[in-house]
Amino acid sequence: MRIYKAKDYNDLSRKAANIISAQIIMKPDAVIGLATGASPIGTYKQLIEWYKKGDLDFSEIRTVNLDEYKGLSPEDEQSYAYYMHINLLDHVNILPENTNIPNGLEEDSEKECTRYDNVLHFLGGIDLQLLGIGGNGHIGFNEPGNNFGKETHCVTLTDNTIDANARFFPSREDVPKYAYTMGIKNIMQAKGILLIASGEAKAKALYESFFGPITPNVPGSILQLHNNVTVIADEAALSLILKEHEITQGGHIK
Ligand code: F6R
Repeated sequence: MRIYKAKDYNDLSRKAANIISAQIIMKPDAVIGLATGASPIGTYKQLIEWYKKGDLDFSEIRTVNLDEYKGLSPEDEQSYAYYMHINLLDHVNILPENTNIPNGLEEDSEKECTRYDNVLHFLGGIDLQLLGIGGNGHIGFNEPGNNFGKETHCVTLTDNTIDANARFFPSREDVPKYAYTMGIKNIMQAKGILLIASGEAKAKALYESFFGPITPNVPGSILQLHNNVTVIADEAALSLILKEHEITQGGHIK
């Protein structure tokens, strides 16, 4: 694992976009795993900017999103499909048929989860998976206590996650209670993981994920067992780690 210290959110976004760009340049038909939420917005903005300058080509890139609320249509402004279109997909030359997001409108959970796992297998695995992390250590919608061995599944969101996501909805009651998410097993099968975290609210989750015991109670902690993880975080998110460790310019931890 390497941890890169970013000066601020802009620096973090630029560094993350650089790593994704390198992946796209080195493998123009790469499968990129995407995340939603506040953390990747700056990264996506930067990728769009570089695309518009002619530095990036998404024409053969395939994408798979981590998760989607169950019950929301892609046209719903709170859906992750809508988010992806607004924040990235509509602004680059990616082919719509090469983008994949769980179908929030499928009521049959088993059917949708099997379909999504088949998509992942058909694509031959994820080359680089972008992740944010929840304040409770969740990755995707894999909440604390969730089984590490799962593939795509339907989860009941915890109160903590509903509270955190309520800021995007008119009221807390409007936040869906269920979501489809890639499982830890799918995430761990990605060839590379890029996790970004910004702000003090992530400090505990980041510390526990990378310096605590590996436990389903902190889903991010499983990433300690992945052999190609890059973390980019700002000083606030790294504050607890920096109390005990030094992080070198090259991303090594002392
Ligand atoms: C989003 C996702 C979530 C978020 C996490 C952090 O697709 O799967 O795990 O990455 O909740 O969210 P933000 O970035 O909003 O703090």
